[in-house]
Amino acid sequence: MVLQSQKNIGWNQALITREDRYLLNQHKSCVLWFTGLSGAGKSTLSVAVEEALYHSNIRSYILDGDNIRQGLNKDLGFSPEDRKENIRRIGEVAKLFVDSGLIVLAAFISPYREDREAVRALFTGDSFIEIYVKCSLEECARRDPKGFYEKARKGEIKNFTGITDPYEEPICPELIIETDHQDLEDSVAKIINYLKTKRLLIR
Ligand code: ADX
Repeated sequence: MVLQSQKNIGWNQALITREDRYLLNQHKSCVLWFTGLSGAGKSTLSVAVEEALYHSNIRSYILDGDNIRQGLNKDLGFSPEDRKENIRRIGEVAKLFVDSGLIVLAAFISPYREDREAVRALFTGDSFIEIYVKCSLEECARRDPKGFYEKARKGEIKNFTGITDPYEEPICPELIIETDHQDLEDSVAKIINYLKTKRLLIR
């Protein structure tokens, strides 16, 4: 949708380019988009990958659903429209951060394929990496780290992904991490290896 007021807005080009930032940082930038059910391990994985990147002198930043929903997106709930807007805003924020030269780790349920594909379309080349954090609903509900599955089953939380709301699995993600079969260390290594093979951790 293009508003009338947007017709008179252009893009002010900075003097420092993304290439300059790659040179300064000695690595490239991209977004690692972690999608999956609540309790699948998206946040745990993003924190562990960020720690590994930090110790390799790679600059990164985590955007996490629970955190972003306390600030930027605190006006949004969990209806399909609100989730769409949640993911749209995060996609735009991730795009800015990628332009700033960082490796962005975005951890959001992002249950709708169409919304994830809309974010992918904001990026070029290898800079959008979709990681399906795969874990069975039974295992997520067994882990239930926040007690939300139990509440959702009792009807105390509406629109809960996997219980009363859908989760649409990625069709062709760049990576699949099965957290009910693979330990954290191996999962982190798989992601770091992927970044290396794509030559993203060098300038
Ligand atoms: S998304 O679907 O819009 O991508 P997001 O990742 O931002 O969701 O937020 C999910 C987090 O909100 C979950 O980790 C959980 O802690 C919390 N939450 C609260 N209500 C719900 C709900 N109805 N469905 C899913 N997650 C919920």
